[in-house]
Amino acid sequence: MENVKKALLDRTSVRRYEREPIPQETMDFIYRAVENTPTSYNGQQFSVIDISDQALKEELYALTNQKQLKTCNRLLIFCSDYNKIQLLARRKGVDFPPFTDTMDAVTIGIIDAALAMMSAVVAAQAAGLGSNCVGYLRTVDPAKVAELLKLPRGVFVVCGLALGVPREQPDLKPKQPASLVFHQNHYRQDPEAMTDELADYDQTVQSYNRTRAGGTSDNDWCAHIIDYYRHAMEYRILDYLKAQGYDVKR
Ligand SMILES: Cc1cc2nc3c(=O)[nH]c(=O)nc-3n(C[C@H](O)[C@H](O)[C@H](O)COP(=O)(O)O)c2cc1C
Repeated sequence: MENVKKALLDRTSVRRYEREPIPQETMDFIYRAVENTPTSYNGQQFSVIDISDQALKEELYALTNQKQLKTCNRLLIFCSDYNKIQLLARRKGVDFPPFTDTMDAVTIGIIDAALAMMSAVVAAQAAGLGSNCVGYLRTVDPAKVAELLKLPRGVFVVCGLALGVPREQPDLKPKQPASLVFHQNHYRQDPEAMTDELADYDQTVQSYNRTRAGGTSDNDWCAHIIDYYRHAMEYRILDYLKAQGYDVKR
């Protein structure tokens, strides 16, 4: 219990790593944790590309400019995957419905891959490793990333996860208070009070950013997040999904 508690409550994103390799038994533990992730219908609509090849890591770094991609020891790429079930259906002569053209299929693949990534995050943390989710791998140049990873149709990148022996111990980031995260029995009906609490949280984040160890800034929470949304308006994810065989219609 103490171990799980520590792994969940002390976790922060770690983006700087020692050069030393990750012991094989630790990777085995992470693999087992990922394999045992709950998935929709036990369909396991995900796959993980485990990258240890330094040249490939460097190529992904060149695309994203995210340094942790080349300095991490292992880079796990969590993908939504309907290729595997289609391979078997074809072998068995089972008719495969155009399920990948539905929003539900996309959602399921993303949930399965994201939960699998979280299993890896917790297992890595419990084993003393540092981790950092890298969503930029999904958005920066989806076609190029799919080509580098040789992804077949039915497979798309949901998120990357950089792993390594930690070389830094960042402060815990302030998160929204429980009153904003948990709504009791129904969604809160007091938007004014909620907004006050959100404004307090905004201030807390700004104070944290002004004083945190390793690179301070004046960012508050609201403007920073909305800036990201503004930037992300440029992404053309639906086009990429189509190219990977998910022609979402409903
Ligand atoms: C889906 C997802 C995508 C993320 N993408 C990136 C990324 O591209 N680059 C990065 O440095 N951190 C990325 N992060 C890490 C977040 O910035 C980090 O989790 C958040 O700031 C909270 O900090 P903490 O993990 O230390 O609690 C991502 C996290 C998630 C869950």
